[in-house]
Amino acid sequence: MEITVQQGDLCQTPCDVLIVNLFEGVTAPGGATGAVDNSLGGWISSRIAQEQFKGKANTILEIPTFGKIPAQTVLVVGLGKAEAFGLEQVRQAAASAIKHAKGLKAQTVATLLHGAGIAGLPPAPCAQAVAEGTLLGEYAFTKYKTTDEEKNDIQRLLIVERDADKVPEIQSGMITGRIIAEAVNMARDLINEPPDLVTPDFLAQSAQILATEYGFFCETWDEPRIAEERMNCLLMVGRGGMNPPRFIRMDYTPAGTPKKRICLIGKGLCYDSGGLSLKPAEHIRHMKSDMSGGAAVMAVMRIISQLKPEVAVTGLIPTCENMIGGRAYKVDDILRARNGKTIEIDNTDAEGRLVLADALSYAAEQQYDAVIDIATLTGGCVIALARVWTGVMGNNQALIDQLITAGNTVGEKMWMLPFDKEVRALLDSDIADMKNADGREGSAIQGGMFLQEFAGDQPWVHLDIAGTSYIDKPRGYEPKGATGVGARAMVEYLMRL
Ligand code: BES
Ligand code: MN
Ligand code: ZN
Repeated sequence: MEITVQQGDLCQTPCDVLIVNLFEGVTAPGGATGAVDNSLGGWISSRIAQEQFKGKANTILEIPTFGKIPAQTVLVVGLGKAEAFGLEQVRQAAASAIKHAKGLKAQTVATLLHGAGIAGLPPAPCAQAVAEGTLLGEYAFTKYKTTDEEKNDIQRLLIVERDADKVPEIQSGMITGRIIAEAVNMARDLINEPPDLVTPDFLAQSAQILATEYGFFCETWDEPRIAEERMNCLLMVGRGGMNPPRFIRMDYTPAGTPKKRICLIGKGLCYDSGGLSLKPAEHIRHMKSDMSGGAAVMAVMRIISQLKPEVAVTGLIPTCENMIGGRAYKVDDILRARNGKTIEIDNTDAEGRLVLADALSYAAEQQYDAVIDIATLTGGCVIALARVWTGVMGNNQALIDQLITAGNTVGEKMWMLPFDKEVRALLDSDIADMKNADGREGSAIQGGMFLQEFAGDQPWVHLDIAGTSYIDKPRGYEPKGATGVGARAMVEYLMRL
């Protein structure tokens, strides 16, 4: 979808669908919505008077215009209560409206800039939120459908602003939003694509292509190099897979002296069958999404190489398949991670922490100002925090708080889980330095505390996105399937630095 910003009058804009808005409880619409109401002979206000439309968040009033204005259909989207309004509501409203317009098979959609009217929010962030809500909300993974009933794609969105002075700001906010949303949709595609296509090598090649296109550095290691680099955990977890592991390193370097150096690590399990500790059938479903953390890191690299913050960012993705077979690693095996620590395998399904252990050890050899790992790590996190909050753990409260704040800003909810030596003690092993798991008790925290052993002493935070990365039913601007969660929060964190 193409998005353009233009100066003009919404009532005079030719389009299939025209989007305006209304706060809950408003009876006499003002601004652009009021102007459209007047052109339509007070249709909107009379629907409000008859209580057929109340402006509740994300509800839609659909009005045929019968040629009174050049638009064919007007959609009034509810913004909810003014007290609860902010940029997240702008994203949600834009998504609700565009999804409705898509249902109407619209080609050209015009919209006012939600939030910049009576709500008085600054135009640039509103435009960014409208672009994000629209592009993220419109996303659907329909590439493999051979019938076209769900395939309608809206061709263009016009953001129409009366005041010419505001157009440049709106334009630049819109572009930021588009850069972010298109990258998140790329991550969603990578996650939604079937695992026969998205192999570790496919992921590595995708990273290479991205790097060439967006001008950042990328290097990918094959199996012999991974062995040479002593990343034995990645090697062993990947050994049961027909498609060999890869290690991806990406670097974004800003023009001047970097203010900070940050490392992002994404779990890249292209498939997680559980390995010999095989998952039951219902839990294997959707395990193509076990590379969601890696996809989010790729999206972040694509975004920051365009937004160009003054921080240096390294993205690492250990990627492999966790499969069964004669060469698969075994329960009772002892693995030696890159930092030399030995790990007794209690359960081959706790594989994410193993591949991350090597990547974290590698990161710990450098002096980063912060290391963030993002991983679909534990089913326990889904049980604890539903598919609503991303679990946050780490060794540095300030960094944890920064990530939670960034998440809140972009509408990605996060909740901190505690660490305690009593949980760490569950991982004690009789024959190695530690075990990779110990049953289900506090398993999200076990996972986090396992990773801590490899993070070294630099500030480190772990994001467990097992619940939030993949959902069964759509909500707001998140589609069914892959959400692309984490990328926007990490970008927000980096931009704030
Ligand atoms: N990839 C899974 C975690 C997961 C579960 C992600 C559900 C998305 C949805 C991870 O590798 C895993 O299997 N974790 C195990 C660990 C256990 C064996 C200690 C789990 O949480 O069950
Ligand atoms: Mn697993
Ligand atoms: Zn996994």
